[in-house]
Amino acid sequence: MSDESPLIRSLRTAVAAVPDDVPLRLHLAELLLDAGQGDAAVGEAAVALTHAPGDPQARALMARAVGGPVAPVTQAPEPPVTQAPEPSVTQPPAGFDWRAAEQEVGDAVPPRFAATGDTAEAVADAPAYDIEAPGRIRLADVGGMQEVKDRLEAAFLAPMRNPELRRLFGKSLRGGLLLYGPPGCGKTFIARAIAGELGASFMSVSLSDVLDMYVGQSEKNVHEVFRAARAKAPCVVFLDELDALGAKRSRSHHSGLRNAVNQLLVELDGADGDNEGVFVLAATNVPWDVDLALRRPGRLDRTLLVLPPDEAAREAILRYHLRERPIDSVDLGRLVNVTDGFSGADLAHVCDTASETALMDSARTGTVRMINTKGLLGAVRQIKPSTEAWFASARNVAMFANDGGTYDDLLAHLKRKRKL
Ligand SMILES: Nc1ncnc2c1ncn2[C@@H]1O[C@H](COP(=O)(O)OP(=O)(O)OP(=O)(O)O)[C@@H](O)[C@H]1O
Ligand SMILES: [Mg+2]
Repeated sequence: MSDESPLIRSLRTAVAAVPDDVPLRLHLAELLLDAGQGDAAVGEAAVALTHAPGDPQARALMARAVGGPVAPVTQAPEPPVTQAPEPSVTQPPAGFDWRAAEQEVGDAVPPRFAATGDTAEAVADAPAYDIEAPGRIRLADVGGMQEVKDRLEAAFLAPMRNPELRRLFGKSLRGGLLLYGPPGCGKTFIARAIAGELGASFMSVSLSDVLDMYVGQSEKNVHEVFRAARAKAPCVVFLDELDALGAKRSRSHHSGLRNAVNQLLVELDGADGDNEGVFVLAATNVPWDVDLALRRPGRLDRTLLVLPPDEAAREAILRYHLRERPIDSVDLGRLVNVTDGFSGADLAHVCDTASETALMDSARTGTVRMINTKGLLGAVRQIKPSTEAWFASARNVAMFANDGGTYDDLLAHLKRKRKL
């Protein structure tokens, strides 16, 4: 639906961010209906009704959308015309409460224009990270992936948990862990679980946010990240999208990037401060784009391949995403068997799709249809596992650029899967 109005698109984004906000969803449904997208409006109204079955506005809208008796609408006064409306832009219905809509989407949709006060400095001051207090997610919450857990325990957690060991081995225990693998397979989730295991705060830093176009600002941002982490120790610093600092020679000519990498090296080496209690984890989908200097001993010197979820993990993920949905004797075993290669995100998508179809059916027939095995299998058939493309490109690197055996794990996996 490329010709959708920007307002509808924004509202869709907002609704996706706060799925249980009924008034917001009803605004969207109303706009869809007025734009002639009756089916989509029915879908949104149906979701709204599951959240608030008795809501009179939702019911009236559903009735209108399915062509039932139209609830009486009080005529709003004509807004004063200040400018001829542009013909190509879908107008909201007369009487649309812009203020209320803006307030509702305010949290979810970034402002389209900056206020006059937002100078470069004000923007640069906004931290590119957020710190979560020590959480409750543990490795036990990560379904399956026993190999990954064992390696984490031996190579990272055991020494990190034990301050005596750390003191004894000193610098040789410095350095962090680089998680890599196809998108949506649990790198961020595992990083959170590691923080949980260490009883540490979790600081997630998106490196593309740290990079700043203002000269000198990126280094300051990197320094600020580590300063904040040291103040919160014990703290896991999770550097997501590490490849944004790319090693691609052409890109590192951009001096801002070079300086940011250098600053990160300084921080990792602890030259500027004491890194005791600061655990550095990083993640990337493209480890071969990561600056080699960052991977030297004492820095991000250990790598961990996070593969698509195995059977036990898929079962855990499916269970998680179906936990609060109306399901009817779902055969998880069958689903697990047909979803080899699906990422965690793909599996979430399968559950969403099956749930949507069941809702639409329920709205159409007027009787509640639960989510069942057949519906889920149907959703699986519609969705192509998103990890295939990643393996296709990773395969070449693993075969031809496996310097120092960095990608041995990946090669072994490809062999096991007969993709080599
Ligand atoms: N083993 C697992 N057990 C339970 N849930 C999992 C597991 N692996 C992944 N998930 C779920 O899958 C979803 C995607 O995982 P996550 O966001 O951690 O992936 P990612 O590798 O960081 O992806 P990206 O590369 O896009 O950043 C999460 O919602 C997570 O809860
Ligand atoms: Mg992630």
